[in-house]
Amino acid sequence: MRVLAIESSCDESAVAVLDETQGLLAHELFSQVDLHRIYGGVVPELASRDHLRRLPGLLREAVAKAGGGLDAIDAVAYTAGPGLVGALLTGAGLACGLALARGIPALPVHHLEGHLLAPLLAETPPPLPHVALLVSGGHTMLIAVRALGDYELLGETRDDAAGEAFDKTAKLLGLPYPGGPELARLATRGRAGAFRFPRPMLDRPGLEFSFSGLKTAVSLAVREGELTETRRADIARGVEDAIVDTLVAKTLRAVDQTGLDDVVVAGGVGANATLRARLTAQLAARHARSYFPPLAFCTDNAAMIAVAGLARLTRGERATGRAITARAQWPLATLAPPAPPTPPTLDPQRKTATT
Ligand code: KG4
Ligand code: ZN
Repeated sequence: MRVLAIESSCDESAVAVLDETQGLLAHELFSQVDLHRIYGGVVPELASRDHLRRLPGLLREAVAKAGGGLDAIDAVAYTAGPGLVGALLTGAGLACGLALARGIPALPVHHLEGHLLAPLLAETPPPLPHVALLVSGGHTMLIAVRALGDYELLGETRDDAAGEAFDKTAKLLGLPYPGGPELARLATRGRAGAFRFPRPMLDRPGLEFSFSGLKTAVSLAVREGELTETRRADIARGVEDAIVDTLVAKTLRAVDQTGLDDVVVAGGVGANATLRARLTAQLAARHARSYFPPLAFCTDNAAMIAVAGLARLTRGERATGRAITARAQWPLATLAPPAPPTPPTLDPQRKTATT
């Protein structure tokens, strides 16, 4: 089976082609960061319009790179939520239109299930069951992943997501959007311990996070003295250390609590080098293992949507009807394992199959 996947939930337009036997054949992506940078964040209406401009070209390129043309595509998978609803509709409309024209199924995919399954694109894919630390711009969650579609939420953030904390504190330091990678770069020049910011919820039991207090602490530090290059770098280092230490400590707690010793890190913040190094070292010290998606598949992309779509389609799931699905909110916990099509039942009176 060969799946074409479309991602348009936020500010990345992306199309990928994944083949069940040949693997990932193409993944095309256009990032809108330059478009949104002057506004300091994503402008939903501009995002939708730009998806409309970019997606058809990306689709043509992906199909050309994969080879075999549209005839070789057996199904379309698209991000149906959660995300910006206008942006989602652009990809969903294209996916459903293509599927209708080709007479193939269009499967709505949960964006976070895509992130969770992105490590399957790595050379050493993670075994099941495992603990997943899902850290993106909108989510911070610890999840026990027992099977495809069987996700138990162990804990999540009560307020800001880890990526959001990176982005908001980066803004306070005058760094351009998206601040996470910029702040991480600045932090490499900062001194450890020069600024020590709170590590919220660490002193309490449980697997919940809270990052909103970090903004206040950083804004106070920023106003306390002249923002020289050295101070900026030291503050950035303090912020990164606080976020990473909190994520690592709670993840180790989730390992202890579940008895699962394989840990997957998914989502944009999974690209953070300090998080990768510290979590890997601390897990190794406990004879546990960490799995990260390849860097290109940490932040939003269509390859991960293709992985999730193919996983469900090859287990028998089919799209129901021709409805275009786009959901701003879509709790991960409501996902279920793939639902195979209902088999025909035999009517004992008429001895014929009905569906
Ligand atoms: O998963 P993602 O691409 O989009 C969402 O679904 O939200 O995650 C984007 C988030 C942003 O907050 C961005 O600043 C953060 O991931 N991010 C990073 C790094 N790369 C991306 N945060 C810290 N360090 C990085 N290297
Ligand atoms: Zn994402």
